[in-house]
Amino acid sequence: MTLGNTTQLIDGFDRTISYLRLSVTDRCDFRCQYCMAETMQFLPRAEVLSIEELLRTARLFTELGVKKIRVTGGEPLIRRGVDTLFQGIGELPGIETLALTTNASHLAEFAPVLRQAGVNSVNISLDSLYPDRFHTITRIGKLDTVLRGIDAAVQAGFDNIRLNAVILEGLNRDEVLPLTQFALEKKIGIAFIEEMPLGQVNLGSKSLSYVSSDELIEELSTHFALEPVSSGQTAGPSRNFSIPGTQTQVGFISPHSNNFCGSCNRLRISAEGRLLMCLGNEESIDLRQLMRDGESDQGIKTAIIDSLSLKPERHVFDRPNEPQIMRFMNATGG
Ligand code: GTP
Ligand code: 5AD
Ligand code: SF4
Repeated sequence: MTLGNTTQLIDGFDRTISYLRLSVTDRCDFRCQYCMAETMQFLPRAEVLSIEELLRTARLFTELGVKKIRVTGGEPLIRRGVDTLFQGIGELPGIETLALTTNASHLAEFAPVLRQAGVNSVNISLDSLYPDRFHTITRIGKLDTVLRGIDAAVQAGFDNIRLNAVILEGLNRDEVLPLTQFALEKKIGIAFIEEMPLGQVNLGSKSLSYVSSDELIEELSTHFALEPVSSGQTAGPSRNFSIPGTQTQVGFISPHSNNFCGSCNRLRISAEGRLLMCLGNEESIDLRQLMRDGESDQGIKTAIIDSLSLKPERHVFDRPNEPQIMRFMNATGG
């Protein structure tokens, strides 16, 4: 029975799921301090979903009513075959937004191919404009390669390009204004993100802690007339502001200071094929197992629909008595 692309994904809190975040690898060519430990054990290749399994997953979710897919990692662009995957997802009926979150290390090479595959929206991590500090934060990354990737994205003409900056006290707190000015110069968006506690990352001996978005809004308001933009149907975690007279929107993602779980519209697939109900909770089902056991499309769709009863009301980042989330960000894709 084909049920078409009408929404069949509604959770126990009456939230409609229309957005899937698909992590295509846990590997990355950077080791950002807030994301990974310095030495990481990555998944054996056989445990990561194949390109065919990823594409099947994407198709099944669009058949259940998902309209937006964001491909995440680790770093998606180091996954072999990712161009075929983008091409395939772009051709699925029902897809309205095909998005990518990347560190841009390979974006200069991939931007035209991605645009051609139908990618509309690209989010690019950029935490510093100082080469040395950029290298310290990413432990490996080279700023000039990333800047070339950003320029290539601008040239390719995606509908939306946004920088992502995780701001930490004692690390890059002083770059909020320069990063915003950089986004203005490039005519792209920027989002400032409060760091979330996932996995056991080592932020070193210095006291590095998240900076509340409200503090950053206050600071930027002394330089620009920030005008709130209504979130419309995006229901994303970002609170957005426009800067009048420019094409730049500034967003603030505030899991600590401004909970957005009430309007959550998303599910995520980890690199090993777990369907995760929430970034900040452990509930999941094993889609990889179902696929590798030969389950039918309809059987998998039923399992997905049934799993929605597990989706929790909100994340547990700020509840000291809850067990800490032990997944690293790179396996989940943020
Ligand atoms: P949109 O698709 O435009 O809404 O982008 P996004 O901001 O969700 O995506 P991106 O991959 O750029 O992630 C930016 C930050 O938002 C990362 O730190 C993610 O971990 C965080 N984020 C994304 N989704 C969620 C969520 O459901 N809950 C929480 N707490 N954080 C999220
Ligand atoms: N807290 C908040 N954001 C994070 N990211 C990675 N780790 C964390 C964390 N611990 C961000 C990256 C990237 C996005 C996918 O998630 O900066 O832009
Ligand atoms: Fe790689 Fe992104 Fe994690 Fe940095 S934040 S280590 S670029 S996956």
